[in-house]
Amino acid sequence: MTRGLFVVFEGIDASGKSTQARRVAELRDAHFTFEPGDTPLGVDLRRWVLDASTPMTPVTEALLMLADRSHHVRTVIEPTLDSGGSIVSDRYFASTLAYQGYGRGVDLARLEAATELAIGSCLPDMTILIDTPPELANDRRAPDARDRFESADLAFHQRVREGYLEIAHKWEGRWCVIDGSKSEEEVADSVDERLTSLRW
Ligand code: TYD
Repeated sequence: MTRGLFVVFEGIDASGKSTQARRVAELRDAHFTFEPGDTPLGVDLRRWVLDASTPMTPVTEALLMLADRSHHVRTVIEPTLDSGGSIVSDRYFASTLAYQGYGRGVDLARLEAATELAIGSCLPDMTILIDTPPELANDRRAPDARDRFESADLAFHQRVREGYLEIAHKWEGRWCVIDGSKSEEEVADSVDERLTSLRW
């Protein structure tokens, strides 16, 4: 049985990544999934971690994201890939490095070690970063949508964006950066062009 393809979409809140991830999954007949929260256990973890009214340290935040991811990998991602199905995931390990590492200041080396514990060797074949300026993403966001991360200030989202760009640079070859300030159609064309080069 040939292992399926594993593609991840990353980006700041309201970057446009979820629209692209869902479109690609449908077009390529892949299983669409997301983090945090796409397992029965994850539903509760997501509720806790996004609830802005529950104070939480950055390390606690990171550990909840990693707990969600570890469970997600073992119960959804790996079984699907092993049975020959492909996966498109809206967020994966780089979200924790970007948000909790670069955004909140949790030690990156320790986060990387904890990530390895959570995901083992389950790395994406390709990660597509939809790189959108935080000011633009902020304008796109519904004014009443304000969870723990959406309610963070612009400087936080700027650090997350810069973190993503650094990670993309480090993983050059397995990552692709697409300008998220372009129209939805232009972004879709760039995404499709890149995925075709993966022979997908
Ligand atoms: P998501 O559902 O993708 O929200 P959006 O569609 O608005 O981007 O993710 C929920 C929030 O969780 C988002 O603000 C990013 C944050 N997050 C982290 O901080 N760390 C993580 O590891 C993950 C997976 C998400």
